Amino acid sequence: MGQACAVSHPQSTLITGIGELVTNDVGQGGFAALTDAALVIADGTVAWTGPASRAPAADTVVDASGRAVLPGFADSHSHLVFAGERSAEFAARMAGRPYRAGGILVTVEATRAAPDAVLRANLRRLAAEMLRQGTTTFECKSGYGLTVPDEARGLALAAEVTPEVTYLGAHVVPPEFAADPAGYVDLVCGPMLDACAPSARWVDVFCEDGAFGAAEAAAVLAAGRAAGLGARVHANQLGPGPGVRVAAEASAASADHCTFLTDADVDALTSTPVVATLLPGAEFGTRQPFPDARRLLDAGATVALATDCNPGSSFTSSMPFCIALAVREMRMTTEEAVWAATAGGARALRRTDIGHLGPGARADLILLDAPSHAYLAYRPGVPQVAAVWQAGRLVAGSLP
Ligand code: NIG
Ligand code: FE
Repeated sequence: MGQACAVSHPQSTLITGIGELVTNDVGQGGFAALTDAALVIADGTVAWTGPASRAPAADTVVDASGRAVLPGFADSHSHLVFAGERSAEFAARMAGRPYRAGGILVTVEATRAAPDAVLRANLRRLAAEMLRQGTTTFECKSGYGLTVPDEARGLALAAEVTPEVTYLGAHVVPPEFAADPAGYVDLVCGPMLDACAPSARWVDVFCEDGAFGAAEAAAVLAAGRAAGLGARVHANQLGPGPGVRVAAEASAASADHCTFLTDADVDALTSTPVVATLLPGAEFGTRQPFPDARRLLDAGATVALATDCNPGSSFTSSMPFCIALAVREMRMTTEEAVWAATAGGARALRRTDIGHLGPGARADLILLDAPSHAYLAYRPGVPQVAAVWQAGRLVAGSLP
């Protein structure tokens, strides 16, 4: 609840007339919202929230006229450093061909051949696309270079646009190591890691048939950890497998995909702090079954939603689209889906400053051109993000 606030903040902005203010108060741990609310931004953070009738004065006033304000989306899983595109592969899948991890190498070839300027322009275009759709924090992986210099430059480019940079040298075994996959794991855990760790916060591994097995994945995560990187895992995407177990044993921040889970996997996700990050864009783009979000939520797991934006399995940068899929196809409630796309993503990135709008939170927020968060799923495919603030600065859209 709001507290009376006698003094106005220097350079403060009051957003008032908010029909629904999604706060996700940290203390409550789940979705939380106020109606007929107001919020004050000062010094890049949320300074006050409460009933509009008790709002303090501020330097600038924005009238939301009954519209909804939400925390900016935290997209905790994307692969934006790449060149080329694979629309023909997508079209073939839609015509009945299955998805296989091998398509990744098509993008690896194009990425290796691309100059820095091409990779940078594509990355910045996608980052801007995300921002316009309300994503104020995103994680970005390497993984389409798979040589020491190509992985290192991918991460350096990613670090230009986000602090949430993930080293994914262990995406697939590149063709030049086809006869020596163990040699490639040694490279990933040795010289490639040395070159990449300075630009990265996280290490990830694609633990799947056709990519890396349990022992290899564990070795990659252990080496990353020794270099100061937190762990994340591409787990159980294409079939049952050891990914979730490996993630739990490595105390990973997140196990991502979680499409094919055993009861033991669900137990691992509920008995450890590992977040289950669901990526419904990938199931949409590959015609695989959607992950069973209800099973995870009902068991008590922490669920995040992210886009997995990449040119192969999920070429969407839209968190609203993922929310709509999660509600319609994965039986998440609108509240659960919005929480998972904001506070859930923050948890998956082990961030406490974002994903909520309590006093002290970073002022990353979006104004919807709609009266409630439910419209994100109720009106799928319709652009409804009217304005976006990042650290208190209006960075996309326009004010009413
Ligand atoms: O998360 N699973 C592995 N990596 C990506 C797909 C990358 C690609 O197909 O290029 C994913 O779905
Ligand atoms: Fe991915």
